[in-house]
Amino acid sequence: MPNGPLLVYGNITVKHSDGETVQKNKVTAFCRCGASSNKPYCDGTHTKNGFVG
Ligand code: FES
Repeated sequence: MPNGPLLVYGNITVKHSDGETVQKNKVTAFCRCGASSNKPYCDGTHTKNGFVG
């Protein structure tokens, strides 16, 4: 999304940096602004920090 997260549609497996794997379906929003408190996922912080990109 412009000025927001990377949206991935479909069934995916996300492997976290600690090795944990999580199954996601439908829509998964990955943080692009770097400020999320729930990385790698978007938590909406980009709307507050004025992220442009
Ligand atoms: S893109 Fe949404 S919190 Fe970073």
